[in-house]
Amino acid sequence: MFQVNDNFQKLPGSYLFSTIAKKVNAFSSANPDKKIIRLGIGDVTQPLAPAIIEALHKAVDEMGNAETFHGYAPDLGYDFLRNAIVKNDYQDRGCDIQADEIFVSDGAKSDSADIQELFAADTKIAVCDPVYPVYVDANVMAGRTGTYNPDTQMWSNVIYMPCTKENNFVPEFPKETPDVIYLCLPNNPTGTTITKSQLQEWVDYANKVGALIIYDGAYEAYISEDDVAHSIYECEGARTCAIELKSFSKNAGFTGVRLGYTVVPKDLKRGEASLNAMWARRHGTKFNGAPYIVQRAGEAVYSEAGKAQLKEQVAYYMKNASTIKQGLQDAGYTVFGGVNAPYIWLKTPENMNSWEFFDYLLENANVVGTPGSGFGPSGEGYFRLTAFGTYENTVAALDRIKSL
Ligand code: MLT
Repeated sequence: MFQVNDNFQKLPGSYLFSTIAKKVNAFSSANPDKKIIRLGIGDVTQPLAPAIIEALHKAVDEMGNAETFHGYAPDLGYDFLRNAIVKNDYQDRGCDIQADEIFVSDGAKSDSADIQELFAADTKIAVCDPVYPVYVDANVMAGRTGTYNPDTQMWSNVIYMPCTKENNFVPEFPKETPDVIYLCLPNNPTGTTITKSQLQEWVDYANKVGALIIYDGAYEAYISEDDVAHSIYECEGARTCAIELKSFSKNAGFTGVRLGYTVVPKDLKRGEASLNAMWARRHGTKFNGAPYIVQRAGEAVYSEAGKAQLKEQVAYYMKNASTIKQGLQDAGYTVFGGVNAPYIWLKTPENMNSWEFFDYLLENANVVGTPGSGFGPSGEGYFRLTAFGTYENTVAALDRIKSL
């Protein structure tokens, strides 16, 4: 008789954003006259930039012609895209990364969930708390996290690194030595980040204790301050301890197009095992490449026109971020983030817990956000708003919140 993977039964509730969607749909069905403004999930609202649309059209036409048709893409990505990534995201920034260290994928969410397939079964992971839920959930499914305590909302075999206003949302080195450390910087959900010298300390720490850093740089395009690293490979020694995950969703609006990449340096080894070779083997077996059309769209992100258009798009969302931040501050809220990231992290008022504030905001302002406790126990008492809405909706949401 077949048995199921029991680890799935250990997962508490449904995926955070599915739970929110269900609650919002229920409210909307019960209140069809209410105009809901969604600032919950970090999904973009601006159309794809003209340079990207042009590349997509051209690639579609190529697919309709026998001479220029493309079948299976190379497992690891087309050279035209890997070379553009290497030049623009790494070599122009002085980072020593080569094209054969880039693995093109269908997005950073799947890579951030799948990368744990490279770790041994008894690997101890460390995560920031609060944290993007995919890192922990994927390790739960793989049976690596021990047992869940519903009272503390913690897993027995996970090291939590609290990030709260008391430590300026900067994770501290854990007391117990982890094998793998997940860092998302600029951070989802807090919208905060750390300086390049603080990141260098993490790289030094990982190299010293023999840990691997999984560095999620999905929000890199939103960095506005000079002393913040755009890639972990700006830090000395990162080639021997870090894998970097990147997304085209947030910098180029590809949430519905799907494209990302992972960097696995060849210097990343454990004994004889090369993580680069292992990820290539895994990619070859389990992945048939991102579509040609989409990879051409990704290439256009790095064209001169694409870069200029996307800079404007990022500025559009960051204008929303400052509108939210300023509006909340004017209304008396304590607010964090929104300077190097498109997320605003606020303290819930009047000692409401995160889900109470979610309900309060939905019912009274018809605005959807994300409860901080959904990202981990240290997120309790906080709430996240995204800057990815339209400007008009962002202004309207803030007007409603201010008049509560
Ligand atoms: C979020 O809202 O945290 C993100 O949009 C989720 C994601 O990127 O998968």
